[in-house]
Amino acid sequence: MKRFLLIASLIFTSFVIIPDSYEDEVRKRLGLLKDVPVVSMPGMTAAESDGPVGRSGEAVYNQGCAACHTAGLAGAPMLANLDQWEGRSSKGLEMLTANAYNGYNAMPAKGMCIDCSELEIERSVQYMLDSLTVVE
Ligand code: HEC
Repeated sequence: MKRFLLIASLIFTSFVIIPDSYEDEVRKRLGLLKDVPVVSMPGMTAAESDGPVGRSGEAVYNQGCAACHTAGLAGAPMLANLDQWEGRSSKGLEMLTANAYNGYNAMPAKGMCIDCSELEIERSVQYMLDSLTVVE
């Protein structure tokens, strides 16, 4: 399971990060204006890329999730706590994002990030999932 999560997060990271810096490099070399779109990876849209579109997973987590998920308030599964995430992480990013976005039992919809987009919630869920692979 840990191995799978590690691989999954590596794949996720490479899709999100590499195309961006690659595109910036191409723009620089061609001397193009920043807002002129250059070749995109297949399936890449502005909304899928990291950076300028919305906040990072860590920023959203600190602002809207940490209050409960760092201390384990009201039974919230704690950041980087493998035991508490067992059985949850296997639901997959998509379902966990839907539950965080729509609310799930004592987990309020969007946590404390009322103005969060679904993408921002997804990033913060990914941030929590990443925390499970970093800590031994
Ligand atoms: C007010 C406290 C609170 C805040 C704020 C909060 N959560 Fe939660 N969260 C909970 C609780 C409690 C649960 C456990 C719900 C259950 O399993 O009954 C939970 C569970 C979850 C789960 C697991 C859901 C599942 O299907 O097992 C995810 C994912 C999650 N929260 C993401 C987030 C994200 C992302 C944020 C911030 C944007 C956030 N939470 C903010 C209390 C909170």
